[in-house]
Amino acid sequence: MTPILAPSILAADFTRLGEQVEELYQTGIRHIHVDVMDGHFVPNISMGPIVVQALRPRATHYTATLDVHLMIAQPDRYLADFAKAGADILTVHVETCPYLHRTVQAIRELGVKPGVALNPATPLSALEEILPLVDLVLVMSVNPGFGGQRYIPGSTAKIRRLRQMLDAIGSQAMLEVDGGINEETVAEVAAAGATVLVAGSAVFNPHHSSTTNIMRLKNLL
Ligand code: DX5
Ligand code: ZN
Repeated sequence: MTPILAPSILAADFTRLGEQVEELYQTGIRHIHVDVMDGHFVPNISMGPIVVQALRPRATHYTATLDVHLMIAQPDRYLADFAKAGADILTVHVETCPYLHRTVQAIRELGVKPGVALNPATPLSALEEILPLVDLVLVMSVNPGFGGQRYIPGSTAKIRRLRQMLDAIGSQAMLEVDGGINEETVAEVAAAGATVLVAGSAVFNPHHSSTTNIMRLKNLL
């Protein structure tokens, strides 16, 4: 199965966010990755529920998925706000959730798909108990906080091992990879068994239009 491309709007031009997301939809993109950063769990601060809310109407028009990646401390405090704003997927970091099972249940009870994310140094063993209960697992292939970082090479072996773990339990969960995905790395990540490929700076950059960048990335899959 060919994986899908999930552009991260973190790299977009925020003065033209509406237009830029519309261009993604025109190229056939139906999965938008929204990076939420709080200045605590990660050093950077990005966007919150009002951006999700602003994206919701056009996402509904195109039946697109709003995939919200919460790089925030104590995410439980904000789950209801993001659900109300219109998130389709809410992904929390295992490093931020001492009661991960409860957090995952809370997301599902809000009518949203739960995802769990792992930092590069967090082992896959942290997922063992929660894996059957989630709709998405996000492998960070850079340390979260900033776009435009280099892909950490060891991530590929981790993705491969996670693919085996998911297959072993018959899980249909999305296997998402985030960080440093570009024309050099995209094929390797896909071959390792990822199903959702996040790309920020490889989609939004001054070299080409996002339409051209998406076409070039898709041609490598
Ligand atoms: C990193 C974010 C990523 C980031 C990806 O903290 O979670 O989603 O925007 O950016 P690129 O594709 O530029 O590495
Ligand atoms: Zn992300």
